Amino acid sequence: MSGVEEIDLTDLNRFAHGFPHDVFDRLRSEHPVWWHPPTANTPDGEGFWVLSRYADIVAAAGDSATYSSETGGDRSGGGTLIEDLPAEWAIGKLLNMMDDPRHAGVRRLLSPSVAPRTIQLIEDDLRQRAATIVDTALAEGDCDFLLDLAAELPLQAVAQLLGVPQEDRHQLFAWANVALDYDDRELGEATARTQRAVAETRAYGTQLLAAKTREPGDDLLSLAAHATIDGQPLTDMEKAMLFSLLIAAGSETTRNSIAVGMLAFIERPESWQRLREDRGELGSAVEEILRFASTTTYNRRTATRDTVLGEQRIRAGDKVTLWWSAANRDPEVFPDPHRFDITRRPNQHLAFGRGGHFCLGSALARMEIRVVFDALLDRVGTVELTAPVEYTRSNKHTGIRHMPVRLAAR
Ligand code: HEM
Repeated sequence: MSGVEEIDLTDLNRFAHGFPHDVFDRLRSEHPVWWHPPTANTPDGEGFWVLSRYADIVAAAGDSATYSSETGGDRSGGGTLIEDLPAEWAIGKLLNMMDDPRHAGVRRLLSPSVAPRTIQLIEDDLRQRAATIVDTALAEGDCDFLLDLAAELPLQAVAQLLGVPQEDRHQLFAWANVALDYDDRELGEATARTQRAVAETRAYGTQLLAAKTREPGDDLLSLAAHATIDGQPLTDMEKAMLFSLLIAAGSETTRNSIAVGMLAFIERPESWQRLREDRGELGSAVEEILRFASTTTYNRRTATRDTVLGEQRIRAGDKVTLWWSAANRDPEVFPDPHRFDITRRPNQHLAFGRGGHFCLGSALARMEIRVVFDALLDRVGTVELTAPVEYTRSNKHTGIRHMPVRLAAR
């Protein structure tokens, strides 16, 4: 096995300084469908399959009958994390951990609210917000790019989309940070702090949903509060889970893409200069930022039946992880894959996943990244790191906790 048995993708320290692309390059070329044995860090004490090749990941993501987002075999838990989540509150209740037909029904309800045409309508509002955010940070000069710049627009936008009062957004942000980071725990563990954050988010969501049920507004939560599928309203659990999912998915991944993207530019001033000179490249630069950052590193599926992938026999009930971050650096699809190339075309990256669970917020995320970089390019001359970047300790999201920078106006 040429030493791959030393690889432990459940050791979060491996991810504490960014995504370990070297490990995945090795897996992709030597063992593209790899059985990860359980280690001392692995939740549930069982191994799982690791897919790192673009073609295999596309195949698995496109076959939800064989690769379920709920469960498979005779396991009771399941879901899209390496660790099994319980059937009572996650499996079949959270949109991204549901299979069709329920999944398709809920998606149909939500899709119009996040469709590109709808998102277009809020472009002017997002542009104004982005300009204010950049001007406020510029006035400070020294700031935390993550907190002061990257996090703000996604948070404001998701609050707007869901109908969350803007004054509560930082509280929700704080809860989501605690719930998604692994600064003081290991995979599969919950601390009193994370349990409290999850419970408080849910309680907040439940209250807000009750308010939207009484007095609906023109927002996504009001829609969920009143929607029916086959004549039946969503269950209270489904609605509460949807709220938590959208707050987390809507703020975390986009802010990290903005921050990781900015870091790539800081390290390559010639790309920043080029984009400033030719703003027509911003569309392809956004796609390259998404590919390069790949902030959702993986999602899991569970095999529902025995199958074969890349000459490996996968059994019903096996956990199978699809590493989008690795697919996005597959040299079979992306020439010179570790190069950050804002003119890369084509760029059919998998940062938003693929298949039936393709990211519902992709149009919003793309728009947010575009308007933030437009505002930065318009107003900011230089961005300089003033201390090392601090990454989140997670194998699920490539995230940045802090990114101290000095901004100078143009
Ligand atoms: C750059 C930012 C983003 C990235 C990289 C990202 C990534 C992803 C990925 C990889 C999936 C697929 C999960 C799977 O196959 O199991 C996904 C699904 C999802 N995303 Fe995003 N996302 C981003 C932004 C957003 C935003 C802004 C929202 C909401 C406003 C959002 C909401 C969702 C939802 C609801 C799903 C589940 C869809 C389903 O299961 O049908 N995402 N996202």
